[in-house]
Amino acid sequence: MKSFIQNIPKAELHLHIEGTFEPELMFKIAKRNQIDIPFKTIEEVKKAYTFDCLQDFLDIYYQGASVLIKEKDFYDLTYSYFQKSAIQNVRHVEIMFDPQTHTERGVSFETVINGISKACYDAKKNYGITSFLIMSFLRHLTEEEAFITLNQSIPFKDKIKAVGLDSSEKGNPPSKFKNVFKAAVKEGYIPIAHAGEEGDAGYIWEALDVLGVQRIDHGNNALQDLNLVKEIIKRDIALTVCPLSNTALQVVKNMKNHPLKKMMELGLKVTINSDDPAYFGGHLNQNYIEIQRALDLTKKDLINLAKNSFKYSFLDKNIKNKHLEELNQL
Ligand code: HPA
Ligand code: ZN
Repeated sequence: MKSFIQNIPKAELHLHIEGTFEPELMFKIAKRNQIDIPFKTIEEVKKAYTFDCLQDFLDIYYQGASVLIKEKDFYDLTYSYFQKSAIQNVRHVEIMFDPQTHTERGVSFETVINGISKACYDAKKNYGITSFLIMSFLRHLTEEEAFITLNQSIPFKDKIKAVGLDSSEKGNPPSKFKNVFKAAVKEGYIPIAHAGEEGDAGYIWEALDVLGVQRIDHGNNALQDLNLVKEIIKRDIALTVCPLSNTALQVVKNMKNHPLKKMMELGLKVTINSDDPAYFGGHLNQNYIEIQRALDLTKKDLINLAKNSFKYSFLDKNIKNKHLEELNQL
């Protein structure tokens, strides 16, 4: 199965670039920027990566991102993710980035987007991997602050495909960002949002009805409400599921209890993703491997999951079809 998974062409649709920050690279960048981090060894870092909930993780994740200062830092971070993706037969990625994590510390929007975009350009040239960028608003901050970020992004609009919503979910429902999403859509950005990771089904309803999202990140808690499941299917919206993230953040206590198979049986369109691979113990193929093993997924299931990753990407129809044709040959 491992080599079968390795050989499947696939896309990744739920990936936070700040969550790909491996300790080795973090140490290297911290050193060249002369920034102190509270860890001395890779073992110490790994030990700190045990989480009881989303907030536990976010505290460490923002701390790690704080060593990123220069354009080259963002380039190195992103290019290193592409190098790992290339060897996993990843053909297309839709990368989320959190501008506010950096602009709040005085790093300019331009520095962040230029570093990431240049790595995307080089990855296409060197590996043939295509990519889109998704600008995510931090939901623990205010809508007013999200508007500032939206305005900062306008000069770089050609480099950004979609807007997303991430960070601490509970207490920060999608409706808090109703106006900024409306304005973002007016600018041509596609709306998506994290919903139903820790928040209940009501958060997913709001993402659909208030923000008009075209994709839902996580969405596990849709299963609490069968009318919601029906509505998601009716709108043909995909859920970007992240198995290793779910067990690391205790959203799912044991991989054997992961709701993925149930989601598929109900007719929900789901994809497999790594979310924050440096923190959750595995990149994209490892997510496929562990969920396959836990739920005894068939080769056909795996191919369907990979097909969904292209079908529910924001690629043009003819490019999607080329990838899907290749999958049909397997
Ligand atoms: N959920 C919410 N916010 C995040 C995540 C996540 O899984 N990863 C990075 N920011
Ligand atoms: Zn996420």
